[in-house]
Amino acid sequence: MLTSDEIRSRYIDYYMQRGHTLIPSSSLLPEGDVTTLFTGSGMQPLIKYFLGEPHPCGSRLVDSQKCFRTEDIDEVGDNRHTTFFEMLGNWSLGDYFKAEQLPWIFEFLVKELGIDPTRLYVTVFSGEEKYGIPKDDESVEIWRRLFKKVGIEAKAVHIGDPDRGGEVGMQGGRIFYYNSKKNWWSRAGPPEKMPVREPGGPDSEIFYDFGTLHDPKYGPHCHPNCECGRFMEIGNSVFMEYNKTDNGRFEKLPQRNVDFGGGLERISAAVTRNTDMFAIDTLKCLIDALPGGVEAMRSKRIIADHMRAAAFLITDGVEPSNKDRGYMLRKLLRRAIIHASMLERSGDDANNLSSGYGETLERLFGLICDEYAGTYTLNREKILAVFRGESQKFRNTFTSGMRRLERYETVEVNTAFKLYESFGLPYEVIKEFGGSKAASLTREAFEERLDVHRKLSRAGAEKKFGGHGLILDTGELKAKDQAEMEKVTRLHTATHLLHAALREVLGDEVKQAGSDITTERVRFDFSFPRKLTEEEIKKVENIANQIVQQNLKVECREMPRSEAEKTGALFFFKAKYGDTVKVYYTGGSLEGSFSKEFCGGPHVERTGLIGRIRITKEEAVAAGVRRIRATVD
Ligand code: ALA
Repeated sequence: MLTSDEIRSRYIDYYMQRGHTLIPSSSLLPEGDVTTLFTGSGMQPLIKYFLGEPHPCGSRLVDSQKCFRTEDIDEVGDNRHTTFFEMLGNWSLGDYFKAEQLPWIFEFLVKELGIDPTRLYVTVFSGEEKYGIPKDDESVEIWRRLFKKVGIEAKAVHIGDPDRGGEVGMQGGRIFYYNSKKNWWSRAGPPEKMPVREPGGPDSEIFYDFGTLHDPKYGPHCHPNCECGRFMEIGNSVFMEYNKTDNGRFEKLPQRNVDFGGGLERISAAVTRNTDMFAIDTLKCLIDALPGGVEAMRSKRIIADHMRAAAFLITDGVEPSNKDRGYMLRKLLRRAIIHASMLERSGDDANNLSSGYGETLERLFGLICDEYAGTYTLNREKILAVFRGESQKFRNTFTSGMRRLERYETVEVNTAFKLYESFGLPYEVIKEFGGSKAASLTREAFEERLDVHRKLSRAGAEKKFGGHGLILDTGELKAKDQAEMEKVTRLHTATHLLHAALREVLGDEVKQAGSDITTERVRFDFSFPRKLTEEEIKKVENIANQIVQQNLKVECREMPRSEAEKTGALFFFKAKYGDTVKVYYTGGSLEGSFSKEFCGGPHVERTGLIGRIRITKEEAVAAGVRRIRATVD
């Protein structure tokens, strides 16, 4: 079985034989790019060369780039999410295009790595009329020929809107057309999110089929982009030939580029046919060095991932702090410490971190440095020094936090949040150490509370910095400019309208059970006993959009809480309100309004500013609780 080292060097050799020059991995901290905290893909350091500047090493490049992505940090612990990974990359800067890229990568996976081609499925771009960008039939033809050569008749099928894609299912397809939500790549995401003069283009992704059973939690049917774990993306060829112009349309770049990226850890998982990414050599040696059995796997995966990421971040110059990059590093180290301490807890005084975790984690750092010694030089002394410093600081905070936890009789969401904010105790620890006191605390409610906090700090930061360079306390650049702030505000008002429309269509038993707003979408959870019908979803959408079209005023009144309750304004039972509250209402007087809710804001001034509301998904989250996702155009 090929090791990760062998896969990496075979990839580099393969592309060097095809005229590519090997370039070194860039730092995890992007140079001269203030919009991004970390290098999260191989192409990031190459942007200016896609736009036309000649690269000193020529027009064909290959590398393995260290990457760090924070989006999925809370998912780490399952069998397939990591924060740190290596991305194998090859690039054509105005040189070759689809006719070379797709056959080469297919041959590499099938012939060089020995991956069974019947396990491979591919996706292509279905076109975007709005922008005049055609569907990628050329790639479909190439894929058809390639599959035919290995004896596979590859049928191409349309999947429709990916958010509803599961409703269509596999249809016996091998090649799948998806729209720009899935098969378009730029640093900023799909076309509408790209800033002016950002390069991007349609892409063609390769998926590996583990052949596991579909998990209906993720939708009625499986398809390559389904999240259930059956399919895993192992490579993405971006045909980067477009540039966004001042008027929001697209023009061709002066040259046609290829940007290919494939996660080394994922390719290793496909080669070894193991659905557990933590079973590949580079991660398994870390998992095996930790105490505890399968029951402790979640903690062991968190430790392995976080320690590896921390070792690379420290080597590239990050120091723990309370903001931006330093905050992320602090979070990684502290979570690793807590989980390592939990693995060794038995017999220890519960108020303190276990005595042995330091030794365990230092040993792990040693293994990580050895493991990567042939490829990347990690700074062993600095890693240990930073770790010891942070560990010392955290020890005192942790003990105080645990003492505080002991004093509480019950730990509900606001108490949990206080413990998190003041002492860094994460949800898992509060739940684990709080025992029966924390029985009613749910992850959902905790996340919800964190979100309120994020919004408040965002609003505060906006006041301070006028909305620029806004970085959340999680270290994510969530609303990095005024435009994103506005989007979040529009989605916020859309949430109120959807809430009211849901109650209108389904009745008053609908009660908010949670909500989460990002710059892309709103997620709204509510109590309701069954799946909504298509018709009901449409009705809710229509009602909300009618209010948008009427361009009604969104007004706010501040009043004593008891008075506010009498107005019939909705409030969220999980949140705690002060004696004076704000009530936001839309459409008419406070008494006769369409929607009224206790809320801190911010909201748009008039509903017309929201834009068209679209419900993109409806699903169950728990017994009696449904979830919708919606976007605004
Ligand atoms: N830049 C492309 C990606 O990250 C290859 O998926």
